[in-house]
Amino acid sequence: MARKKIVAGNWKMNTLPAEGVELAKSVVAGRSEVCECVNFIVCPPFTHLSQVVEAVKGSDIAVGAQDCATEAKGAYTGEVAAQMIAALGCKYVILGHSERRQYYGETSESLNKKMAQAYANGLTPIYCVGENLEEREAGNHFAVCKAQIEEVVFNLTEEQFANLVIAYEPVWAIGTGKTATAEQAQEIHAYIREVLRSKFGAAAEECPILYGGSCKPSNAAEIFAKADVDGGLIGGAALKAEDFLAIGKGF
Ligand code: PGA
Repeated sequence: MARKKIVAGNWKMNTLPAEGVELAKSVVAGRSEVCECVNFIVCPPFTHLSQVVEAVKGSDIAVGAQDCATEAKGAYTGEVAAQMIAALGCKYVILGHSERRQYYGETSESLNKKMAQAYANGLTPIYCVGENLEEREAGNHFAVCKAQIEEVVFNLTEEQFANLVIAYEPVWAIGTGKTATAEQAQEIHAYIREVLRSKFGAAAEECPILYGGSCKPSNAAEIFAKADVDGGLIGGAALKAEDFLAIGKGF
């Protein structure tokens, strides 16, 4: 049973609309150099989701948002509803990124609501988990990831779980240039899959688990070669089409 291979770009708060369109077009232009077996996703800021959807039209590159609201619609100034994201032609939404947990008070409670909104609107969540440096050094990384999964993913139905992507992103490796070793990634990915198996059984074998945290062309192949690593969620290196595509060649 071959799991989906995914390379997703999290652009974070980078690119102006014209730059984002150019980046997306460059990814489309170079896409044919990479195995068709790789599923590419780009996640631009809300402001140019629509233009990027347009820019990748006709290609197999999917578009995702970086967050969505907990509520369906209404008086929630500044929020963006999952329904709005889906209406633009997006297929994915990143939820629970560590930057949102850390800087914007994201909790399992809010994430449960966001997951429900994503599914209600046909979006596939890319649900992020991962420990910070202190937790890693104390040896608590397994427990942290387990809790982040139990508190949110365990509330999904089997049908919803079949349409989920997980990203393991150690906070200490995000944007720091420090990458988890391929062995560290495999160890925790295998553990995450075991936790998923305890709840969802054999369906856990089909859930893509991506690695994120300073993943780049020079280390992608080694990390992706591991049995339980099904691709990457890429930050910095997703801002250059050449690097982003080169990471796809890591498979
Ligand atoms: P990075 O970010 O690749 O820049 O470390 C990854 C992420 O936060 O998704």
